[in-house]
Amino acid sequence: MASPDNLTKSLMIQTATHAYPILFGEGTLGAVDALLAPYAKGHQIVIITDDTVAGRYLAPVQTACERLDKIVHVVCVAAGEASKSFTIFQRVCEEVLAFQPDRKTLLVALGGGVVGDLTGFVASVLLRGLPFVQIPTTLLSQVDSSVGGKTAINCAAGKNLIGSFYPPKAVVMDIATLDSLPQRELLAGYGEVLKYGLLGDAAFFERLLREGEAMLAGDRALRCDIIRYCCAMKAAIVEEDEKEQGKRALLNLGHTFGHAIEKLAGYGGGVLHGEAVALGCLMAMTLSAPDVTEEEVDGLRAHYRAVGLPCRMSDLQADVVWDAGALTHACYGDKKASDGGLTFVILRAIGDATVQKGVDAARVQQIFEQYQ
Ligand SMILES: NC(=O)c1ccc[n+]([C@@H]2O[C@H](COP(=O)([O-])OP(=O)(O)OC[C@H]3O[C@@H](n4cnc5c(N)ncnc54)[C@H](O)[C@@H]3O)[C@@H](O)[C@H]2O)c1
Repeated sequence: MASPDNLTKSLMIQTATHAYPILFGEGTLGAVDALLAPYAKGHQIVIITDDTVAGRYLAPVQTACERLDKIVHVVCVAAGEASKSFTIFQRVCEEVLAFQPDRKTLLVALGGGVVGDLTGFVASVLLRGLPFVQIPTTLLSQVDSSVGGKTAINCAAGKNLIGSFYPPKAVVMDIATLDSLPQRELLAGYGEVLKYGLLGDAAFFERLLREGEAMLAGDRALRCDIIRYCCAMKAAIVEEDEKEQGKRALLNLGHTFGHAIEKLAGYGGGVLHGEAVALGCLMAMTLSAPDVTEEEVDGLRAHYRAVGLPCRMSDLQADVVWDAGALTHACYGDKKASDGGLTFVILRAIGDATVQKGVDAARVQQIFEQYQ
């Protein structure tokens, strides 16, 4: 069996109910059999991936899985957010069921957050629960979606409204996969990286302002370090609050604005999730006035401009009329909305987020207008 000798540091997530490792490495995909072996207890493995990732990374992962003497199946969906739909969810369930899985059949999510969220949800319901492992291949999925056990698909009523809390058995990261990620996708993931600094760590935020460009330019050591730091931050939050009864909600900084933007664009309609969240973080800073100053918002805006993140909705690559009233209305459909009111994560200061209920809709609409 191949040995992942280039595997670097790992992290353990330990919640009240589950424990699982996050393994970080470079060039680990071809040796993933050694990492998957403890979780592949049945005679079958099903790799779920998308058609872009399959072209680049399926072969080494499939070959490695076959070295475990398992029957290895592949289910492939179209790349992009539109695959987090009811229709695709049903198709994937039926394709996996056609392999006659048993409760030991391991599902392997190979791809970005779309494949991870979809596979996790499929795993959580098939036979009332199949083991699954995440192999995230985008920056966004490495710093965020693969960690923490949230799974979901989208529906007409909104984003991620159908899903479950269902942690993976392990998360295996190969930082080298980021080398093939298009710059726009890398930047979208970087939006979530910045979010960690904004919500909980001012020193990390300052570091990103200094080192973010080098990380985006391809410095692998820096990438590995920053990704691991984000995962450790997420782990600490998830360990304290696995099912989002309190602190975990802070991870939704920028998301109520962002989800409204994604909803109006139509899922898969040209706006990337990370772009919407990045823009949503700027808006959340504006909503946080006077605790966050206009100079601080300008500072982040200048960083966005330097790296190429969107600063207003007209910067997004979507052919949408950004109606501020419709966007505000969409915020009511967010999972955080409660008792018919608007709830947002805001900042008391950079690095110090809090949940604010009963936010004034007129103020939210004003911000959407300001950011058109
Ligand atoms: N579960 C959670 O906690 C959580 C957290 C944050 C985001 N999310 C979800 O994650 C999703 C977004 O994830 P994403 O940004 O990874 O999008 P994605 O999965 O759509 O991947 C982005 C694009 O990059 C391609 N790609 C993936 N890896 C590649 C690689 N290494 N090289 C080249 N191309 C590659 C994909 O085929 C796709 O076209 C959203 O649906 C969002 O709701 C979930």
